[in-house]
Amino acid sequence: MNLFLLFLKTLLLATIFTVSQSANCNNTDHLLISKAFTSVSNFNSSWFNCSHPPISEINLSSRNLSGTLSWKFLKNLTHIHTINLSNNSIKGYIPTWFWSIPGLIQVNLSKNKLGGTIGFESGSGLSSIQVLNLSFNRFTNLAHLSNFSNLSLLDISHNNLKVLPFGLDSLKKLQHLDLSSCNISGDSKPISNLTSLEYLDVSDNHMSGTFPNDFPSLSTINFLNISFNNFTGYFPYDKVQRFGNSSFINAGMLFKVSNFSSLNRTSHHTPNKSHINPHNTTHSNPKNPKSMKKNRKPSSRKRLILIMIISLASLLVLLAMVVSICCIFRKRKMAKRNKWAISKPVHQHQPFKIEKSGPFAFETESGSSWVVDVREPSSAAVVMFEKPLMSFTFKDLMAATSQFGKESLLAEGRCGPVYRAVLPGEIHVAVKVLENARGMSHDDAVCMFEDLSKLKHPNLLPISGYCIAGKEKLVLYEFMANGDLHRWLQELPTGKTDVEDWSTDTWEYPVDSSSPEKMEWRTRHNIAVGIARGLAYLHHAQSVPLVHGHLVSSNILLSDYLDPRIAGIGLSRDRVETQTTDSDVYSFGAVLIELLTGETGSEETVVKTRKLVREGRGVDALDSRLRLGDNSVSEMVECLRVGYLCTAETPGKRPTMQQVLGMLKDIHPITAELS
Ligand SMILES: *[C@@H]1O[C@H](CO)[C@@H](O)[C@H](O)[C@H]1NC(C)=O
Ligand SMILES: *[C@@H]1O[C@H](CO)[C@@H](O)[C@H](O)[C@H]1NC(C)=O
Ligand SMILES: *[C@@H]1O[C@H](CO)[C@@H](O)[C@H](O)[C@H]1NC(C)=O
Ligand SMILES: *[C@@H]1O[C@H](CO)[C@@H](O)[C@H](O)[C@H]1NC(C)=O
Ligand SMILES: *[C@@H]1O[C@H](CO)[C@@H](O)[C@H](O)[C@H]1NC(C)=O
Ligand SMILES: *[C@@H]1O[C@H](CO)[C@@H](O)[C@H](O)[C@H]1NC(C)=O
Ligand SMILES: *[C@@H]1O[C@H](CO)[C@@H](O)[C@H](O)[C@H]1NC(C)=O
Ligand SMILES: *[C@@H]1O[C@H](CO)[C@@H](O)[C@H](O)[C@H]1NC(C)=O
Ligand SMILES: *[C@@H]1O[C@H](CO)[C@@H](O)[C@H](O)[C@H]1NC(C)=O
Ligand SMILES: *[C@@H]1O[C@H](CO)[C@@H](O)[C@H](O)[C@H]1NC(C)=O
Ligand SMILES: *[C@@H]1O[C@H](CO)[C@@H](O)[C@H](O)[C@H]1NC(C)=O
Ligand SMILES: *[C@@H]1O[C@H](CO)[C@@H](O)[C@H](O)[C@H]1NC(C)=O
Repeated sequence: MNLFLLFLKTLLLATIFTVSQSANCNNTDHLLISKAFTSVSNFNSSWFNCSHPPISEINLSSRNLSGTLSWKFLKNLTHIHTINLSNNSIKGYIPTWFWSIPGLIQVNLSKNKLGGTIGFESGSGLSSIQVLNLSFNRFTNLAHLSNFSNLSLLDISHNNLKVLPFGLDSLKKLQHLDLSSCNISGDSKPISNLTSLEYLDVSDNHMSGTFPNDFPSLSTINFLNISFNNFTGYFPYDKVQRFGNSSFINAGMLFKVSNFSSLNRTSHHTPNKSHINPHNTTHSNPKNPKSMKKNRKPSSRKRLILIMIISLASLLVLLAMVVSICCIFRKRKMAKRNKWAISKPVHQHQPFKIEKSGPFAFETESGSSWVVDVREPSSAAVVMFEKPLMSFTFKDLMAATSQFGKESLLAEGRCGPVYRAVLPGEIHVAVKVLENARGMSHDDAVCMFEDLSKLKHPNLLPISGYCIAGKEKLVLYEFMANGDLHRWLQELPTGKTDVEDWSTDTWEYPVDSSSPEKMEWRTRHNIAVGIARGLAYLHHAQSVPLVHGHLVSSNILLSDYLDPRIAGIGLSRDRVETQTTDSDVYSFGAVLIELLTGETGSEETVVKTRKLVREGRGVDALDSRLRLGDNSVSEMVECLRVGYLCTAETPGKRPTMQQVLGMLKDIHPITAELS
């Protein structure tokens, strides 16, 4: 009987085994992988061996993969430890939870087109990643690494970080760090905490700080490169010789010291001043003493005395010079220190205590600050319009923005700072602090937000929710990955060398991809039509025309597909009262001119462009980065004419937004339909 059962069991197991081995591959991991790579071209699921179910490694480097990954499917690969997708053309953003996938050890996403931020908020676990290579991508300045405590190798070189990643100083196990060519400015001090470092490359940035004080102990470092930066300090020849001269080229104002121990960090002006030379010079001994010796010939005592006096005087002068150089130097160092202290996010000095009751001060980068003065700031509710079941509080907003820290700051808007936040449930929002609305009563503010939430149009930036914490009114918007129009226009490539790269990536657009030069123009035309649509909706689709009052290119955000979304509606009520729909039309004209000329839509640009259009020389005003195709030039010039009409000096002569929309659509009907 027992034997029979055993036989049945074996039979059953055998059947299961053969089934799982059948050609029809449907094991969970395989399905997840296929789903994750659905939108990646050149991917072939047969690369993964179906008969080895738990997929522990994804090694697809240099496979010419392009497109975006559906990251969420990787989450359920329970055995994954290595992901290598280097040297492909994968783009998009990496969701924050990705970094905390349990068991992930090695990640190499270098040489792709990935952007956005790196890292995740504190409180959402730790990353188990030990080797992380994100070099040669497009990551930007919000890197947040404090939860990557297991990292031993980090390469984020060749990205556009602008500042040192936040939390870098807590990576105690880090042995290999490459931050080269990341456009980083600011003090290098946090690096000095990395006591396990053996390899350090910070070359080709704009970093300041003192060398070697703001670095970890040089004795344990095997590779060092600080070239092309703005450091100050000393170049302890005996200690750094082994790194090679190329590691210090254009590193800043470094003074060469022949013997480091003779010149210690606290008392640099007393000993052996003569050994200090700007690093630039290759000789480490000054010439003056030698030349003095030459002049000293055995002659009359008078002459000797005279020479002695002269040399004494010159020595004094030399001494004074050295001392003053040292003074200047120290001052600079102090200034640097202070700068660091100020620009550091508030919570790094004093850990923010959430239990404490107000007032709470938040400082923004530009020095403006805002204060929440409430008893229980953490419990102030966040009202979400689309997701009424989600319950967030001000405390969640603080956690998601690192206590409204510098690293989450997206922009200093006209009405107040704007922060980026990822709320629980991966709700990605921009949080705007309405500094102008402090005087508004709670009920008025609720009314305003409720009214705004009712404005729904594809070309208006939807408000996702709001939070009223004491006097502070915070408004939440959907996060727009492509940023605002002003920035987008300014960040367009200037030289021709980059154009190819950009046209295949950022301007991915469902029209005529065979001719990128035309696509550029269509993209801009599509943006113009979209803005006109949104504004026409405000002016003409309401019971009472709604005036925007502050339409500028930085208030127009771009969706993933570069569709424009107008922001900042109804937030400047005081202004709006003095403004009319005609002034909105003027502002639209200025934005249109900016779109076509590539120059900021200031009054000056408007006047200049109007003059050119009047003289029939509109072509000369066009943005030189717009490649001129056959039809496109006349279309662009016609578009400029619309801008001309909109910016008419007499408000009554300006067309309505409905008319403007009609004119723009006529200029290029195909794009208008597609959008
Ligand atoms: C997997 O495929 C086999 C046949 O090849 C089928 O019997 C089984 O139901 C499939 N399982 C799932 C989960 O789809
Ligand atoms: C995937 O690879 C297999 C084997 O290498 C090949 O037979 C198949 O045609 C490939 N599929 C695609 C879509 O390229
Ligand atoms: C998958 O693994 C099995 C067993 O190890 C092996 O026989 C087969 O050749 C592998 N298939 C591929 C495509 O690598
Ligand atoms: C990963 O793939 C590349 C080529 O695609 C190969 O050269 C390399 O050896 C692979 N690495 C591992 C660990 O399998
Ligand atoms: C990167 O991939 C391309 C093909 O997509 C290949 O020609 C090149 O050799 C690869 N580079 C490296 C360093 O593997
Ligand atoms: C890479 O893939 C693209 C299509 O996605 C193709 O046009 C191109 O020729 C491929 N390049 C290589 C080196 O295989
Ligand atoms: C991952 O697994 C969880 C439960 O284990 C499930 O709820 C979720 O839907 C899965 N996600 C995907 C993308 O398959
Ligand atoms: C990823 O692949 C590249 C190229 O094959 C290789 O040089 C690198 O070591 C791999 N990295 C990891 C973490 O496997
Ligand atoms: C970095 O070092 C400084 C001084 O050595 C110390 O005060 C600070 O706590 C350290 N930071 C971390 C995150 O360990
Ligand atoms: C280097 O620092 C000095 C001040 O210490 C500053 O004037 C200069 O502009 C900086 N240079 C660069 C390239 O950042
Ligand atoms: C540094 O200077 C202090 C006092 O100026 C002295 O006590 C100390 O020995 C010096 N250290 C070295 C390494 O010369
Ligand atoms: C170093 O300084 C000398 C003058 O003392 C100057 O001629 C030379 O060009 C400088 N070299 C560099 C690399 O700046």
